[in-house]
Amino acid sequence: MTRTILVTGGAGYIGSHTTLVLLQAGFQVVVLDSLCNASAESLKRVAQLAGREPVFVQGDIRDRALLDQLLAHHPVQAVMHFAGLKAVGESVAQPLRYYENNVGGTINLCQAMAAAGVFTLVFSSSATVYGDPATVPITEDQPVGQTTNPYGRSKFMVEQVLGDLAVADARWRVALLRYFNPVGAHESGLMGEDPNGIPNNLLPYITQVAVGKLPELAVFGNDYPTPDGTGVRDYIHVLDLAEGHLCALKALQTRTGAHVWNLGTGQGYSVLEMVRAFEAASGRPVPYRISPRRSGDIANCYADPTKARKELGWGAQRGLPDMMRDAWRWQSMNPNGYSGGRN
Ligand code: NAD
Ligand code: UFG
Repeated sequence: MTRTILVTGGAGYIGSHTTLVLLQAGFQVVVLDSLCNASAESLKRVAQLAGREPVFVQGDIRDRALLDQLLAHHPVQAVMHFAGLKAVGESVAQPLRYYENNVGGTINLCQAMAAAGVFTLVFSSSATVYGDPATVPITEDQPVGQTTNPYGRSKFMVEQVLGDLAVADARWRVALLRYFNPVGAHESGLMGEDPNGIPNNLLPYITQVAVGKLPELAVFGNDYPTPDGTGVRDYIHVLDLAEGHLCALKALQTRTGAHVWNLGTGQGYSVLEMVRAFEAASGRPVPYRISPRRSGDIANCYADPTKARKELGWGAQRGLPDMMRDAWRWQSMNPNGYSGGRN
């Protein structure tokens, strides 16, 4: 029997790559996205690559009537929930908007799911719930909740809500996937990350410097307790991440309750290592300047992915050169993202 998955936020960066992987694996996919931070063009590219289209419903996860209607019309068996706001700085300025979308929206979604008899949920959490970890690599049982901004707290709160829900009602099967730093793009160059305005994240910033849209990279601090003084993160290819969602969905078939899995590679790279790896993959120089630390940043953050390997049978397959090559192919083929068409 073909299974139908509702993907909220499926037009966005991670959701669109996961929608593609789901279609390629034979699932039917219904995407619900308000397009508040995405373009419907991403789904056209998904259809081009998959050879068939997901159903697309433009709407908001906070709209209960729409969710009820959608779940009544489509035989949804599980939900992958990517929809949410994700800009850390914006969350500090607009906390209510973040809590309403990320926490309120998720509660609304769960209420609609329960009313429709759908109890399987894969949630996009974040390594940000670990705050500044006492030790690395980070295992799932390390303390969480010492988050430094409303975005991070919204992820922590949703984890608590979903955990409580799974305790209260044994029909729920929930995966809390703590992503480390998703980067890269589909290898075709047709799909990738399309940030609004000036990117906050390192790799989109690097690729925009390389393509000439931005003059230079500001490296936020070189006095951290790391091998070269710059921040160390666990960058994971977006397609490895997408595949992790399918493995989590499969694992939930034999598990009730809420389960946490880190999705990272287990390997940390510094900002300067990233710059050098990008230059090697693209052949383009990336001018940079050492700048003051960015407020809220931590020195080291990388995963221990053992639990996901053992329980999901999943591990990242793509290395740093693949991430760099694919990010650069996407950026150079689509200098203006989805809005500019292909050049
Ligand atoms: P994204 O902004 O590209 O995708 C999110 C999508 O959700 C967008 O298409 C947006 O239009 C949609 N959306 C937002 N609010 C909505 C609402 N109320 N109703 C319907 N649609 C709505 O972001 P992404 O990088 O693909 O992230 C996906 C998820 O993963 C988010 O929940 C994010 O917090 C989480 N996450 C991302 C990262 C990262 O670095 N990219 C790291 C950890 C966790
Ligand atoms: N960095 C720079 N210059 C830039 C951008 C980033 O030097 O222009 C550095 C940062 O200081 C950090 C590293 O590059 O050391 C990675 O920064 P990102 O902004 O790409 O990623 P973060 O680890 O800070 O944040 C990401 C997500 C957050 C999430 C967090 C933890 O963007 O949403 O991971 O999961 F909360």
